[in-house]
Amino acid sequence: MPRPFIVGNWKMHKTLSEARDLAITVRDGLSTSSDIDVALAPPFTVIGSLHEVLKGSSVSLAAQTMHEAAKGAFTGEISPLMLKDVGCTYVILGHSERRHIFGETDQAVMKKARAALDHALIPILCVGETLQERETSRTFDVVDRQTEHALRHVTPEEASRSVLAYEPVWAIGTGRTASPEQAQEVHTFLRKAVARSHGDSVARVIRILYGGSVKPDNAASLIAEPDVDGALVGGACLDAPSFLAIVAACRP
Ligand code: PGA
Repeated sequence: MPRPFIVGNWKMHKTLSEARDLAITVRDGLSTSSDIDVALAPPFTVIGSLHEVLKGSSVSLAAQTMHEAAKGAFTGEISPLMLKDVGCTYVILGHSERRHIFGETDQAVMKKARAALDHALIPILCVGETLQERETSRTFDVVDRQTEHALRHVTPEEASRSVLAYEPVWAIGTGRTASPEQAQEVHTFLRKAVARSHGDSVARVIRILYGGSVKPDNAASLIAEPDVDGALVGGACLDAPSFLAIVAACRP
């Protein structure tokens, strides 16, 4: 069984002083026991500062997206080299807001996953269907296609260190969570897809997180499902007590 992993995706929230306060409260609120992994994904502007705050703690840093090139004339973009340099361990790729608002394609996620690993960043690869896709029975086709692209140029050893996040688009920021059974159904499907593409041993250890309106009161029932290895938390991670309650609910 992979260790549980809880990631807080801050999205476009928190000024520098707010970010430091939240990170310090989360850091100090976590016991030092190493039975669960926790990462925070704040905006780019505060990552360097939070690296100082979190240094030596059990909390890792993640970025919310990146460009695939190490450097170059890409105004407004941030490279994997830069993320590594300011202390990121992980990078979220292919979040549905990146796909649906900013037009990020499966091909782009494929390139970014490769680039992240080339720079020793662990990708958190997001997949998930829209409401319309679910209602027209295309959930499995969509997540299969997204996962296949994301992992296409990733070796089995790299895949075993990577993270998948199933985030049904209809559950993100809507307060409408997938039921534990709905999450488990897709997570099992994803694990089987990884087994086919990268082998059984990779499928057993790759961490598959659930995301979409995870809250303190539903986290335990989601993580209780055998193929749900953790959570990617949006709204509920912006408040330290609620994020800490989710982490506590997910402890093995
Ligand atoms: P939410 O966001 O928890 O606010 O639904 C989850 C996410 O977008 O990762």
